[in-house]
Amino acid sequence: MEKAKLLKLMYQYRSLGFEYFKELKPIDKKLISTSANSLHEIELKVQNCHLCPLAKSRKNVVFGEGPQNAKIMFIGEGPGANEDESGRVFVGRAGQLLTKIIENVLNIKRESVYIANIVKCRPPNNRVPTLEEVTACKPYLLEQIAIVKPKVIVALGSTGYHHLSEDYNTPISKIRGEILEYGDAKLIPTYHPSFLLRNPSAKKDVFADMLKVKNLL
Ligand code: URA
Ligand code: SF4
Repeated sequence: MEKAKLLKLMYQYRSLGFEYFKELKPIDKKLISTSANSLHEIELKVQNCHLCPLAKSRKNVVFGEGPQNAKIMFIGEGPGANEDESGRVFVGRAGQLLTKIIENVLNIKRESVYIANIVKCRPPNNRVPTLEEVTACKPYLLEQIAIVKPKVIVALGSTGYHHLSEDYNTPISKIRGEILEYGDAKLIPTYHPSFLLRNPSAKKDVFADMLKVKNLL
């Protein structure tokens, strides 16, 4: 269906009282592809990328890290100050909590999973990346997914979930813990560790979501 028609239909649904429309269309597998043979090959081009305005303010590109054959991928939003300084993904306070979740709840080493973000360069003042920035950067992430071919992808927070699924309407609080199809992988959205730092009572939800991840491995 054309976008305009679909949008019209969604507005009609909304006028009938539907709060949100969980469309959960499976992602087009063709989008998850790459001509690269390795993560290293992708990283070389990302390190020199100037496709969006974030290139101007970044100190370092934060490509992501982990083994090429990882079974799980965690996808965050974008680098913060610590990540921008060091060039490494999830190394600040939120990163330390993510590491604890991986090591103490999933009982696996952080080094055994692949971790990346929706955008590779830090948005100034940690603002949410714009659609323009995400549109420029997301193909790199899809290439990373095409090389790693994870069994499970954990989308951290609403930015991770919305841009991976392209379901922009369902709040993370409604969708977290669901097991969704994502190409050949399962996609499980959960809360972002930064949210957990502000709302520790939500840790039990992430704990429950991680038990589901464990069962899928
Ligand atoms: N938050 C993110 O979403 N990603 C990082 O790499 C660090 C903090
Ligand atoms: Fe390129 Fe992504 Fe950095 Fe923008 S955020 S400059 S698209 S690597």
